[in-house]
Amino acid sequence: MTRPAPVPELPLVGAISDYLDRDAPEEVRRAVREGTKREILDESFPYDCMMPREDYDAAMERLQLQLVRMMHGVAAQGRRVVVLFEGRDAAGKGGTIGRIQQNLNPRNAYVVALPKPTEREAGQWYFQRYVDWLPAAGEMALFDRSWYNRGVVEEVFGFATTAQRRTFFRQLPDFEQMLVDDGVILVKLWLNVGRAEQLRRFLARERDPLKQWKLSPVDVEGLGKWDDYSAAIAETLSLSHLPVAPWTVIRSDDKRRARIAAIQTLLHAVPFDGRDLTAIGTPDPVITGGPEMLR
Ligand code: ADP
Ligand code: AMP
Ligand code: MLT
Repeated sequence: MTRPAPVPELPLVGAISDYLDRDAPEEVRRAVREGTKREILDESFPYDCMMPREDYDAAMERLQLQLVRMMHGVAAQGRRVVVLFEGRDAAGKGGTIGRIQQNLNPRNAYVVALPKPTEREAGQWYFQRYVDWLPAAGEMALFDRSWYNRGVVEEVFGFATTAQRRTFFRQLPDFEQMLVDDGVILVKLWLNVGRAEQLRRFLARERDPLKQWKLSPVDVEGLGKWDDYSAAIAETLSLSHLPVAPWTVIRSDDKRRARIAAIQTLLHAVPFDGRDLTAIGTPDPVITGGPEMLR
């Protein structure tokens, strides 16, 4: 006799609203509530509201068509592409990756979302487990988080020692330089979400049974660590915005505009036959730039 699988426990559900009610700074609480009602984004965000749905759908269709051609070129010319997606929890990495992959072959355009290192991996060279997932000719690897964990989450939560972090930043420029030297196209995207918008997204995850799986203990414990994250992110960007491998920072409070800017950035980085720069357009300079976009 088969019995239905037990419903998994979701102990984190409720933790976000508890934080909002009890511990969030007053101005954050207000911004979250007002934003939910009026669909207004963070005060410092350059747009009042999201890009209209019809404009977004039309742009996305054009861009996805270009992505299909791009992957055809990547396969035909044996290129290797690595795209790093970084940013705070709920910055929109997963959703952006999903739109990129939507109409591509998962065999050659694949996502790398590694869990925390195993004990064995923790005893290896830090970059080793990421090297395993680098693309071969004709492939594009989309990294949902990456080796930059050592710069940010591992710093904020104390998962790495100071010596390990120093070693990481010392080795990093050579590591990325080697990839680029070897012909890998390396695209580094940092999605930057504001504090109120991040909380709104966490609340939405909490309420939606289809999204609850996205809530992790790291998200919940990270709620009170906004400033620690800011410091770790600023330092990481200052040490890794390299001429050979610069960051593109995209403000992602409006996830539609952010997804479009991310895909445009990728399409500009990879040459391919049939690339239509007019159809692709330029990433919106109001939300796209270098590390100065964080401020
Ligand atoms: P995600 O943002 O992918 O939903 P989490 O928010 O749970 O994942 O965690 C953020 C990142 O921190 C993940 O890449 C995870 O692997 C990493 N991480 C979590 N715990 C540890 C740990 N003990 N040591 C190193 N990295 C960790
Ligand atoms: P946690 O703090 O348990 O949410 O873990 C953070 C990240 O590590 C998440 O991406 C989990 O999927 C992953 N993770 C948690 N526990 C393990 C484990 N035992 N082995 C591998 N990955 C894990
Ligand atoms: C995102 O939405 O930024 C990530 O992919 C998911 C997360 O924050 O855990």
